[in-house]
Amino acid sequence: MADRLTREYRHTPVMLDEVLSTLQPQAGEIVCDCTLGGAGHSVELAQRVGSQGLLIGIDQDEMARTAAAERLNREAPGVECHILAGNFAQLDELLVEDEIAGVDCFLFDLGVSSPQLDIPERGFSYKYEAPLDMRMNPGKQTLTAAEVINTYNEADLTRILRSYGDEKHAKRIAHEICRARAQAPIETTTRLAELVVAAIPAADRRHGHHPARKSFQALRIEVNAELEVLREGLTAALRWLEPGGRICVISYHSLEDKVVKSLFGEHSRGCICPPDLPVCVCGRVPTLELITKRPLLSTEQELEYNPRARSAKLRAARKLAANTNGFK
Ligand SMILES: C[S@@+](CC[C@H](N)C(=O)[O-])C[C@H]1O[C@@H](n2cnc3c(N)ncnc32)[C@H](O)[C@@H]1O
Repeated sequence: MADRLTREYRHTPVMLDEVLSTLQPQAGEIVCDCTLGGAGHSVELAQRVGSQGLLIGIDQDEMARTAAAERLNREAPGVECHILAGNFAQLDELLVEDEIAGVDCFLFDLGVSSPQLDIPERGFSYKYEAPLDMRMNPGKQTLTAAEVINTYNEADLTRILRSYGDEKHAKRIAHEICRARAQAPIETTTRLAELVVAAIPAADRRHGHHPARKSFQALRIEVNAELEVLREGLTAALRWLEPGGRICVISYHSLEDKVVKSLFGEHSRGCICPPDLPVCVCGRVPTLELITKRPLLSTEQELEYNPRARSAKLRAARKLAANTNGFK
């Protein structure tokens, strides 16, 4: 069964070389992959920390954890691996429960994995007929995409489509959704995709990706509160990071990247007093050093075999020694 899952769980790790070169995992270190997925990155990280190290892998998706456990067992034998079920927003609880004292490397490879997108029943994709679900952790979450679509008011739907999907036709789509649901609830992915397509002017439908792509992304971000959990997870990770420890985040959406950039920026900045003050009164000291001043992007070579890496942006930072009092 597990072996069948692994075969089905095909996800090519994004920017693997860049992850390894920024995190530089060393033998004996403790590495925490907060988005384990199919263990594409984790297998490589585990092999580098070796039998003296520890790989902690967190995922809220049971199928991912099962496939990852099997793969780590096979490809990183002899390395201690703790596979933890949960949302990385609960990093504190998860690491306390696992009796961890500190972490040398953190990885966050955000969003959904290829299998999550490709399994129709998960309801993430406009390509297959399925109930409108989109929960990453169906056992723990109650809000579904169907509930958002059928109960949010038109203004809220417009806001979500515009801000999380960067959808320029957000208002028209929200209006079409509200018009259609007044007749019958919108229950499936394909019905929603039809409505989105109908709302977008023909000229704008002809080029680029599927017209419903941005709306589906926006809904997924809302259902899983992705921006809020990212802020919570990263803030906690910065506290658990050992001095000299490294953190690497791959994001796929400008709003996610904004969260990472602003958090890293905040922690790598020292004094924030107005320049005309003769002495520092804020007392802030930098606690992070940026490893990537600008985000790294996938190479053309990688994009040839992994088109899902197209929107990836990688940022990494190192925790500075001694000064830990700058954290909130
Ligand atoms: C892009 S995939 C990671 C793929 C992995 N790096 C690999 O190469 O196989 C993202 C994974 O993170 C999980 N995930 C997303 N948000 C999460 C969260 N807030 N807490 C825990 N897991 C999360 C998803 O279930 C998915 O399996």
